[in-house]
Amino acid sequence: MILLCSAKQLSIPFILSMINMITPGVQEVQLSGQIELESRFPAIFRAEEKLEKGIEVVADWFRAHRLTILEQLSESGALLFRGLPVHSYQDFDLVLRSLGQENFSYAESLSNAVRHNRTDRVFTANEAPPEVEIYFHHEMAQTPIFPSKLVFYCEQAPTKGGATPLCRSDALLFEAVRRVPEFVKRCDELGLRYTNVMPASADLASGQGRSWRSTLSVDTKEEAAARLAGLRYEFEWLVDDSLKATTPTLPAIRRLPDGRRVFFNQLIAAFKGWQDARNQANKSVCYGDGRALSDEDMKSVCAISEELAFDLHWATGDIALIDNFLVMHGRRPFEGQRCVLASLLA
Ligand code: FE2
Repeated sequence: MILLCSAKQLSIPFILSMINMITPGVQEVQLSGQIELESRFPAIFRAEEKLEKGIEVVADWFRAHRLTILEQLSESGALLFRGLPVHSYQDFDLVLRSLGQENFSYAESLSNAVRHNRTDRVFTANEAPPEVEIYFHHEMAQTPIFPSKLVFYCEQAPTKGGATPLCRSDALLFEAVRRVPEFVKRCDELGLRYTNVMPASADLASGQGRSWRSTLSVDTKEEAAARLAGLRYEFEWLVDDSLKATTPTLPAIRRLPDGRRVFFNQLIAAFKGWQDARNQANKSVCYGDGRALSDEDMKSVCAISEELAFDLHWATGDIALIDNFLVMHGRRPFEGQRCVLASLLA
């Protein structure tokens, strides 16, 4: 068990009392594997019996208590709601709108993942094949533009595997400072640069197979060049019309407004997972001065992330809210069908 020195007391009983007051039969529960930090991570709420009041009641409840929910989210990092009558992506869209937060659209993002929109807010989380593991990351931390929160909805639970692992980034950093201080110091002082070769058309076999046209919201190479110049990316066109792009130096560590320091980057996901027909994973990220990361350091930080991981094993109908600044997420491989939808909040 790892305890943070900067412990903050969560007011979970408050949100719990609000939930019980408005929707009887919903209460905080424990699941095996929860991580003991200041309190159990993530916070999990469950409807004891199937609620029959309908999605409008649920949406009204989220609307009425959104400030409390969002406050709790920024403190604990992840909230899971299980057993609510959310039966479709349209229901999910209704809940999202009731949170009253600005949408962060996939179309305008620089995400590398191939996704399909169901509504303007709801899209498939990642179309990468089931056997592809997506390693821990903060959403879009490899770009200068990222969402503050993610909301997941499990439309269809997988039959085998397919958990979404969650890891508190402040806890990971705290432990990394203890075990690999020089590595953390280099990350902090030098920052990181990411390199990705984007295909000319979508590559569905890859977890980062989004085409450069879609990624950059452009139609031509000239438009792509202008967009990349505006982002201060370095780039090179390859013979098959794919585009090799390298970001400017981005911070690897950030301090949140409440003082917590987080390992806000895509280091683990890139170093271990950006492997496909165009990219070699361990060459896809380097320090800001161009130096390579060492396998030993990466082994240590990956081990810490797994020690601190909570695997969210989805049940159909689950809704999970994730604070993107505080919590890393990923996707375990799976077999059979699995459909987890996502939405991003600005
Ligand atoms: Fe992600």
